[in-house]
Amino acid sequence: MAPQQKTVKDYIRTIVDFPHEGIMFRDVTTLFADPRGFRMAVDQMLHPYAGQRIDKVVGLEARGFILGGAIAHQLGTGFVPIRKKGKLPGKTISEAYTLEYGEAIVELHDDAIEPGETILLVDDLLATGGTAEAGIKLVERLGGKILSCAFVIDLPELGGRQKLEAMGMDVSVLCE
Ligand code: PRP
Ligand code: ADE
Repeated sequence: MAPQQKTVKDYIRTIVDFPHEGIMFRDVTTLFADPRGFRMAVDQMLHPYAGQRIDKVVGLEARGFILGGAIAHQLGTGFVPIRKKGKLPGKTISEAYTLEYGEAIVELHDDAIEPGETILLVDDLLATGGTAEAGIKLVERLGGKILSCAFVIDLPELGGRQKLEAMGMDVSVLCE
């Protein structure tokens, strides 16, 4: 019998008690480090959008930059980063949010998106949805239209997907 093909999930490891006790941290560095795993993740993330108009890919710091950059390259679009407070050099707009293990502020350059542009929002993982919700608000404040929010992993017990869908978002994930 042929050996079973590895799936994206098989390349992701879990680190217990990081960054705090009680958190099971899904570590995608092992996925990114593997040439088959990384290609599989990028190809599967962009597959649903083949033939659809996307003007820009917006990636959430930090692992959304790695995935979003590769996806933007494949789609032939521009890439726009949403960064943690104080990292972007130009004029920014900002949103505060809470996530599974803390709170933070994210920022977007105020000229990074033109009104009416179609955006694909990308990150590695959806937990409470706080980070993605803040990113969606930033994009929408500039008049961007979010086609979909794409993640490698969803942690369904934390309710992020429900939160984004209640906002009217299309959500795609590769594994739980
Ligand atoms: C992680 C992950 C998502 C976010 C998801 O990033 O990469 O961006 O948490 O959690 P949420 O759905 O509860 O908001 P983290 O905040 O650890 O930041 P980093 O990527 O800069 O390490
Ligand atoms: N962001 C929020 N919760 C996380 C988790 N359990 N693993 C990795 N990133 C996260």
